[in-house]
Amino acid sequence: MKVKNAMTADFLRSAYGGESMAHMRYLIWGESAKKDGYPNIGRLFDAVAYAEWAHAKNHFNVLKDEAGDNTVAAGAVFGHTNIVENLQGAINGELHEIEQMYPVYLETAKFQDEKDAYKAFHYALEAEKIHAKMFADAQISAKNKKDIGDEKIYVCPICGYTEIGDNVEKCPVCGAKRDIFKSF
Ligand SMILES: [Fe+2]
Ligand SMILES: [Fe+2]
Repeated sequence: MKVKNAMTADFLRSAYGGESMAHMRYLIWGESAKKDGYPNIGRLFDAVAYAEWAHAKNHFNVLKDEAGDNTVAAGAVFGHTNIVENLQGAINGELHEIEQMYPVYLETAKFQDEKDAYKAFHYALEAEKIHAKMFADAQISAKNKKDIGDEKIYVCPICGYTEIGDNVEKCPVCGAKRDIFKSF
């Protein structure tokens, strides 16, 4: 189905840009965390990077019938200093998405009756809430010069839902079966 409204289409493109950059940034920060002796925080960055990939893919796919070139503007966090600062960057990025970006995008999609966009924004918003908490917990450990635990981290490839440990039978956000979750 085509996206009917220009504003929803703009928001999808911007969210695609933001998620794409978050994906890359987390891979970079994950590599840095591992190098600095925090393999599990590194794994957390890798897992969340995968979730952001799922979000970017969802936004991109909603736009599949909107062929053409576009300049994409999206908020981007920069900085590559130390693990505590990188986690702060991650927290700030997630909070921006939770408190400003996705609630507005979601309301717009609802107002404009854009069901596919609404679903893509809803999936992302729910996952980002979890990511913010995970990064905040990891930062508390890192401030004490400790890594987080070594439990596996699971990510739903459909909506980006993320959990530490094996806690749910199916995805609580999109309903996907657990056996398609990717583990890190
Ligand atoms: Fe996120
Ligand atoms: Fe899901």
